[in-house]
Amino acid sequence: MTGRLPAPTLAAVTQTPDHVLRNRVAWDALAAEYAGPGFDNWSASTPTWGVWHVPEAQLGILPPRLEGTDALELGCGTGYVSAWLARRGARPVGLDNSAAQLATAAAMQERFGLRFPLIQADAEQAPFADASFDLVISEYGASNWCDPYAWIPQAARLLRPGGQLIFLVNSVELVLTWPEQDDMPATQTLQRPYFGMHRFQWAGASSVEFHIGHGDMIRLLRRCGLEICDLIEIQPPPGATTRHSLASLEWARNWPCEEVWKARKTLRA
Ligand SMILES: C[S@@+](CC[C@H](N)C(=O)[O-])C[C@H]1O[C@@H](n2cnc3c(N)ncnc32)[C@H](O)[C@@H]1O
Repeated sequence: MTGRLPAPTLAAVTQTPDHVLRNRVAWDALAAEYAGPGFDNWSASTPTWGVWHVPEAQLGILPPRLEGTDALELGCGTGYVSAWLARRGARPVGLDNSAAQLATAAAMQERFGLRFPLIQADAEQAPFADASFDLVISEYGASNWCDPYAWIPQAARLLRPGGQLIFLVNSVELVLTWPEQDDMPATQTLQRPYFGMHRFQWAGASSVEFHIGHGDMIRLLRRCGLEICDLIEIQPPPGATTRHSLASLEWARNWPCEEVWKARKTLRA
C-alpha cells in the first residue's frame, strides 16, 4: 500500500548534536591520515585490535560463529572491522558520520573486491528498524566519539534478543592520567576527577570524545536491557609497537590503556 507519510511530530524531529557536527569536520580532515593504516588492516589475514594491534587469538573479541549473522559497525571509518566480519561469513553494514572516511572504505572495497553497505549517518540516530542485527560492534568509533547515553540505547534497540554489543574504547585509567596537551603520553598521576567524567574536549582539539566511569557504564548497559558478558582489559605483548602516542609500552604493560566491553541483549528485553 502506498500513501503519504504523516507529517513528523515535533518530538520526532531530532537535531544533529553539536559534537556530531564537530566530529564530522574533524574526521573529514583526518581521513587521509587513516587511509594507509586502514589499508594495512584490510590486508591483515587475521584481526588485530586497538592501537597495539593485539591479535584476536590473544583477546577473543569476536563471537566464534559469525556465519549468516547481520552485523552493524557503528563508526566504521575505513571499514576494516566490517571486512573482517564479512570474511568470517557475516553480513556487515558499515555506518559512519564522515563522508571522507566512507570514501576510503569504498575505495578499499574496490581494491579488495569485498562489498557491503556503507551508510553515512550519526550512530546516535542510526536509521534502521528495531531488532535488525545480531551484532553491533565499534572499535574507537561510536564507542569513543558518541555520547554513550545516546548511542548505547540505539545499539540495544537495533539488536535482536540474544544479540551482542562489542566495543573497544580508551580505558578509564588512560583517560584519568592523560595530560591535557594533545600528543603527550599518559602519565602515572591522576590528572582529573573520576566522578562526573563524560564529555571531553582536549586542549587544542576541535573534536569531542566521551568516556564514562565503570559504574556508570555498568548501570547504562543494564538499563538498556544488556547483560554484561566480559570486560577485556588489553595488555599489549612485550615488544608491541604503535604509531599513536597514547602511552608508552611500559605504561600499557602495567595498566590497561584500552578496554573491550562485551554485552548481550537479554532475551526478555
Ligand atoms: C578512529 S575511527 C574508528 C574506525 C575504524 N576502527 C578505523 O580506525 O578506521 C573513528 C570513526 O568514528 C566516526 N564517528 C565519529 N562520530 C560518529 C557518529 N556520531 N556516528 C558515526 N560515526 C562517527 C568517525 O567519522 C571516524 O570514522
